[in-house]
Amino acid sequence: MTIIEVAHLTQRFGATLALDDVSLMAHEGRTLGIVGESGSGKSTLVRAVLGLQRPDSGTLHVLGRPVDMGRRMPRDLRRAVQLVPQDPKHTLNPARTVRSSLWFHMAAQGIPRSERQSRAADVLAMVALTPEYLHAYPNELSGGLAQRIAIARALLGDPKILVCDEAVSALDKGVQAQVLNVLSDLQRERRLSIVFVSHDLAVVEHMSDEITVLRSGRVVESGPTTDILRDPADPYTAELLAARHATSRPETEQSCVL
Ligand SMILES: Nc1ncnc2c1ncn2[C@@H]1O[C@H](COP(=O)(O)OP(=O)(O)OP(=O)(O)O)[C@@H](O)[C@H]1O
Ligand SMILES: [Mg+2]
Repeated sequence: MTIIEVAHLTQRFGATLALDDVSLMAHEGRTLGIVGESGSGKSTLVRAVLGLQRPDSGTLHVLGRPVDMGRRMPRDLRRAVQLVPQDPKHTLNPARTVRSSLWFHMAAQGIPRSERQSRAADVLAMVALTPEYLHAYPNELSGGLAQRIAIARALLGDPKILVCDEAVSALDKGVQAQVLNVLSDLQRERRLSIVFVSHDLAVVEHMSDEITVLRSGRVVESGPTTDILRDPADPYTAELLAARHATSRPETEQSCVL
């Protein structure tokens, strides 16, 4: 089933064409990777998919329903599509405990008070954390822990789709691998769909069933990950591949305390 369908999105910022006729589809229970260099339009695309910004033209369907981008999405769709941001330390309020942040998020999603304690414990368990972290403040958390809390927060409303915008880019390789494993396990166990956005092709390749390559706001290539990597049709993808070979792949087997 197609869970997100974007068609012919165009977005201009002054002289910059941030998105140029971008179309893509994400499917239920699968990961769509979106890769491209800095400034290629990835976050602009993410904002449109989350309904946070109205592009100049184009259409968006989420779970088969048309979405009026730039207007607040209906609550059930807002619950269904959740963002895992790049830097959770910026999105977790430093003045609030984890508990307070999670409660705030649940209140916004209309989750009844009586369910919040058990829901919080559930989502922490999904990211392999114990409820003791409810009492922590963001500045007491490592980057990896903060990112797990951000994933837990995104899971509170039982979403269908996680949109991860450079969600592991700020983390060291070992910690990155841990967080990627948390995401892969979640996807397998809960049939989540993931839109995984990164400038790092090695990470995108590791996570994604399908890849869309963006360059200067245009889709230069899209298809199954294996096909794209075996035989990149666009010179830009070949360049990204060459750059990827210059760096190491994320190590997934190692286990370490975050
Ligand atoms: N609100 C805005 N106002 C003006 N220009 C913008 C705005 N948002 C994005 N841009 C421009 O649009 C282009 C695409 O930006 P975007 O943030 O989508 O790229 P990105 O692929 O997410 O980059 P990065 O990897 O650095 O996060 C860039 O040239 C950027 O400067
Ligand atoms: Mg970005």
